[in-house]
Amino acid sequence: MSDRQIPFRSVANHIQDFKEELAQIAAAPADAPQGLPGRFYADETYFQHEWDTVLRNGWHCAGRIDEVPNVGDYFTLMLLGEPIVVVRDESGIKALSNVCRHRGMRLAEGSGNIKRFVCPYHAWMYGTDGTLLRAARMKNAGFDAKQCKLGEFHVIERFGFIYVSLAAEAPDFDKSVDGLWDLISAYEPENYELVHSATEIWKTNWKCLVENFMEGYHLSVVHPQTLHGYTPTGLSQKAASGEGFTSYYANYPQDIASRGNGATGLTEEARHRSTLFSVFPCQVVSIAATLLVSLSIRQFAVDAIEVKWTMSNYKGELDEDTIQQRVELWEEVNREDREKLEIMQQSFRSIRADGGPLAEDDYEGTVLDFQHWLARQSAAENPAG
Ligand code: FES
Ligand SMILES: [Fe+2]
Repeated sequence: MSDRQIPFRSVANHIQDFKEELAQIAAAPADAPQGLPGRFYADETYFQHEWDTVLRNGWHCAGRIDEVPNVGDYFTLMLLGEPIVVVRDESGIKALSNVCRHRGMRLAEGSGNIKRFVCPYHAWMYGTDGTLLRAARMKNAGFDAKQCKLGEFHVIERFGFIYVSLAAEAPDFDKSVDGLWDLISAYEPENYELVHSATEIWKTNWKCLVENFMEGYHLSVVHPQTLHGYTPTGLSQKAASGEGFTSYYANYPQDIASRGNGATGLTEEARHRSTLFSVFPCQVVSIAATLLVSLSIRQFAVDAIEVKWTMSNYKGELDEDTIQQRVELWEEVNREDREKLEIMQQSFRSIRADGGPLAEDDYEGTVLDFQHWLARQSAAENPAG
């Protein structure tokens, strides 16, 4: 047993301490907001609690709708330890359990198009709706194929994204993002077409990436060559927030030309900025007139996440060279952020990483929104234990 592990009987007290501290920090006066101490990002027991509660109960962005445009198109993902296959069936998009009902083999890998899922272990065959269609040599009288349908998870489509929830009773997505549609509808987010997708491993806690992506305070410091010229820190501007989301505008300097037209309903002001938003807990997005970049954060350890990021282009407006430049730019931006977050993660076990003051609304108000959301989720949980 390592000295960081906690005896079983004190786990409930340990979590209760975190919950009380979170409530206390979130109740700080409006003019003196405080960030969370490092232990909230480094404590393995608290992370396990988040996994079972705020993460398990949330809606997670699995990808873009146009990753599965045709019947039979599928892609796989691992969400909080659940192997899932997202597949387009005749009736729409489904999120099926990617676990064979016979002895638990994974049915599908990667992405592609199929008519049937055939298990690579004993060749049980399933339809794209999860129904077991064939199980060779299963003659036992007590075997009932109808009882062997693949498990299924909640799935919805919004803004051109696919969201999945593992919760027994999925939370009300539309209620939690009430106000977000008003913010982004003029961009027509459902009309952006996928041009790039990649997956990376970052050695950081999941909350750090949400906070990092959602604050403009670091832009000019961390991204002097890549972003500062377009979206300098000084032009960051807090935008709408709601029960389960937050946002800010990364405005472009006056002497910078807009980068493409995008949707006809966009104002000149909207063309002259990127709008960054987060759908809590695990999606962060940048939407601009012609470019939509989304990061989905998938946890697998307190200090490690898989990041799936997608780039989409408004109705094919950008040519291939420009898209390639943007992909390279975002690869560099992600690398710059990742480097900082991975160093911070190593500091979080310090007793001096005790949570510092946050900057005002336009710079770190989004971090505070996220913290308040975490505190509300925590308060709504049944008492720990
Ligand atoms: S585990 Fe799938 S058919 Fe046996
Ligand atoms: Fe950044």
